Amino acid sequence: MRPAALPLALCALGVIAGQLGASFELLVEPEVLVVEHGGSVRLKLKTTCQDPEATGNVETSIRKQLVTTGPGETVVELLNVTVWKSSILCYYVCNQTRLTVPVNLTAYRVPAPAVLESIPQLVVGESRELACNVSDVAPIQNLTVILWRGSEVLHTETFEQHSQDEPVAVRVTHLLTAQRRDNGQNITCQALLNLAPYGPRFNTTSEPQTLNVYEFPEDLKLEPDIYLETGETVNASCAVDRAFPEAEFKLELANRTLTLSTSQDGHQATAEVSHSQPGNFRLVCTVTVGGVEQRKEATVHVYRFPSPQLNVSTASPAAGTAVTVGCALPRDHSAELRLRIRAGSRVLAGWGPSPLLFNLMTREEDDGMELSCDAKLPVGGKAPKTSTPIRLTVTAGPRMDDGSCPPSQNWTEGQGETLCCSARGKPSPSVECTKDGEPFPTGTPQPVTRAHAGIYQCRATNPLGTAVRNVTVWVDYHDPDVVLLVLVPAVVLAALIAGGMGYHIYYHKKKIREYRLQERQKQLEMEQRRTAGCSEETAALNGSAQEAQP
Ligand SMILES: *[C@@H]1O[C@H](CO)[C@@H](O)[C@H](O)[C@H]1NC(C)=O
Ligand SMILES: *[C@@H]1O[C@H](CO)[C@@H](O)[C@H](O)[C@H]1NC(C)=O
Ligand SMILES: *[C@@H]1O[C@H](CO)[C@@H](O)[C@H](O)[C@H]1NC(C)=O
Ligand SMILES: *[C@@H]1O[C@H](CO)[C@@H](O)[C@H](O)[C@H]1NC(C)=O
Ligand SMILES: *[C@@H]1O[C@H](CO)[C@@H](O)[C@H](O)[C@H]1NC(C)=O
Ligand SMILES: *[C@@H]1O[C@H](CO)[C@@H](O)[C@H](O)[C@H]1NC(C)=O
Ligand SMILES: *[C@@H]1O[C@H](CO)[C@@H](O)[C@H](O)[C@H]1NC(C)=O
Ligand SMILES: *[C@@H]1O[C@H](CO)[C@@H](O)[C@H](O)[C@H]1NC(C)=O
Ligand SMILES: *[C@@H]1O[C@H](CO)[C@@H](O)[C@H](O)[C@H]1NC(C)=O
Ligand SMILES: *[C@@H]1O[C@H](CO)[C@@H](O)[C@H](O)[C@H]1NC(C)=O
Ligand SMILES: *[C@@H]1O[C@H](CO)[C@@H](O)[C@H](O)[C@H]1NC(C)=O
Ligand SMILES: *[C@@H]1O[C@H](CO)[C@@H](O)[C@H](O)[C@H]1NC(C)=O
Repeated sequence: MRPAALPLALCALGVIAGQLGASFELLVEPEVLVVEHGGSVRLKLKTTCQDPEATGNVETSIRKQLVTTGPGETVVELLNVTVWKSSILCYYVCNQTRLTVPVNLTAYRVPAPAVLESIPQLVVGESRELACNVSDVAPIQNLTVILWRGSEVLHTETFEQHSQDEPVAVRVTHLLTAQRRDNGQNITCQALLNLAPYGPRFNTTSEPQTLNVYEFPEDLKLEPDIYLETGETVNASCAVDRAFPEAEFKLELANRTLTLSTSQDGHQATAEVSHSQPGNFRLVCTVTVGGVEQRKEATVHVYRFPSPQLNVSTASPAAGTAVTVGCALPRDHSAELRLRIRAGSRVLAGWGPSPLLFNLMTREEDDGMELSCDAKLPVGGKAPKTSTPIRLTVTAGPRMDDGSCPPSQNWTEGQGETLCCSARGKPSPSVECTKDGEPFPTGTPQPVTRAHAGIYQCRATNPLGTAVRNVTVWVDYHDPDVVLLVLVPAVVLAALIAGGMGYHIYYHKKKIREYRLQERQKQLEMEQRRTAGCSEETAALNGSAQEAQP
């Protein structure tokens, strides 16, 4: 059985049921009329009636026209159909018997291509309603609207439940949340009017709307202040956290475009910044992402930052005098620079503008002190610059006191004795002692006679002056020695003369000898003590002299 035969069979059955006794059949082609609104359509009525008088036609308000008529077949044309839905009654009269078949008519309107509302640039994550207008479609029940993203269906809408027969304008929407992968994708809206199986299929697609999706948080990173010296080169970076699609960077210093190097991830651009003139210059970073532009400005502070110059009124002052320490920058330095003067790590004069002066009262122990001057920029964290240091040599005149030159010294005749007298001072003074106009060496032991007793005039000299001090030397001597020298031969002589009587004399001499031994021992002890005292004093002097060196 052919598919088309089924409705025919049903129709015939209906006829038999309604018109009992009828002996013919009526067949209408097509079973359903689908016609473009305003257009014309033909109907073919076929019958099995053998009566040559038999006639067939249609009953309708639509203007019609018989095209052909014959015993078995009639063709009727419906002209300029301006109804949207209608039922047409087809009939045949055969041997006074009338047989009718209703036929449904649908008028359609060819859909115009759908119109997509333009889609603005979208930020990733932003939700946007996509809207598609399809105007004046009939029959709406046969319309399908599909929203596409590339080749992917976003949304499909049908209107089977609608009851209008007249053309309807429809608006189809879909909420799209923009994603990076949407960028560059085309959105299209397809309108399908499917009138099959009795009518045509219309398939129209809107002009595509290309999605422009970007991601560009408003947080350009550019250091707001950059500090550098004239001629110095630093790297300035401009960066974005996220950017989609690729960010395009541009860096300009004082309207001059800089050469950039962009990081591998494309999120940062770096340029070398330098300027030959001091001043404040505008650094502008411009970043473009998907046609969206952001700018950020920074100030490049360019300084003339020369090394400070230190000078002193004298590099070798006398202790107790003032030294003027001056620190200055060359004439064309930037006014913001600050100076300070240091002695080693001790700050003498805190940060101040150029020129910076300081009056230093020198002390003997300041000898060897190293003075220097630092220059810094108060902002920007750049390392300070330091002048060439100046080492102070502090001088001091000769000085002698009871410690270095005891005013009274006790010697013993016959011993090696040292005249202890030294002097303090910078440079180290030379000490010369005289007695009665005759020079006497100090510091080295000399054999002593009683003639050495007396007042010694000691004179300490260095380029700063002379100090004089009297030293009284006492010489200890023993006349019993002379007595003994005379006495011994006398005793021998006496022994020869009076051997038997010698016992008493011998006993007496033994006592004298013991006494001498005791005396000698005392002298040795004293001598040792004195020599030690003098050298100790010298050592102490040397020690203090060394301490004064830094
Ligand atoms: C009626 O339809 C015919 C074609 O079928 C067309 O040529 C004609 O212009 C139409 N007339 C009107 C008034 O629509
Ligand atoms: C028409 O019908 C009559 C009876 O109603 C019948 O006698 C006659 O034969 C029929 N004519 C044809 C051509 O069938
Ligand atoms: C014609 O339309 C009516 C309702 O409008 C429906 O009930 C009927 O089934 C239709 N007939 C055909 C053959 O489609
Ligand atoms: C789509 O239709 C709506 C009304 O339904 C209208 O406001 C809008 O402007 C139309 N858009 C376009 C692109 O035609
Ligand atoms: C989107 O549409 C435009 C214009 O029709 C076309 O040039 C482009 O190739 C399309 N892009 C894609 C990804 O299909
Ligand atoms: C569309 O029109 C045809 C007529 O060709 C009809 O048979 C069909 O039921 C209609 N409806 C849909 C939803 O296709
Ligand atoms: C609509 O037309 C396009 C080409 O223009 C075709 O690829 C597609 O299959 C058609 N869709 C239908 C449902 O006919
Ligand atoms: C700046 O960066 C580039 C590349 O990272 C490097 O070669 C150059 O030495 C840097 N310049 C300075 C002044 O740090
Ligand atoms: C830089 O350009 C801006 C405007 O483009 C202008 O106002 C400014 O004077 C320029 N500066 C210099 C130093 O050329
Ligand atoms: C430091 O040097 C400048 C010349 O450079 C001089 O004019 C000034 O007097 C000097 N100051 C001192 C304290 O010596
Ligand atoms: C030197 O000897 C005298 C007595 O002879 C004594 O009074 C004095 O203290 C001694 N001086 C020293 C430095 O030993
Ligand atoms: C040192 O002694 C001399 C005499 O010998 C005397 O004229 C002089 O004033 C004394 N000097 C001191 C500083 O005591």
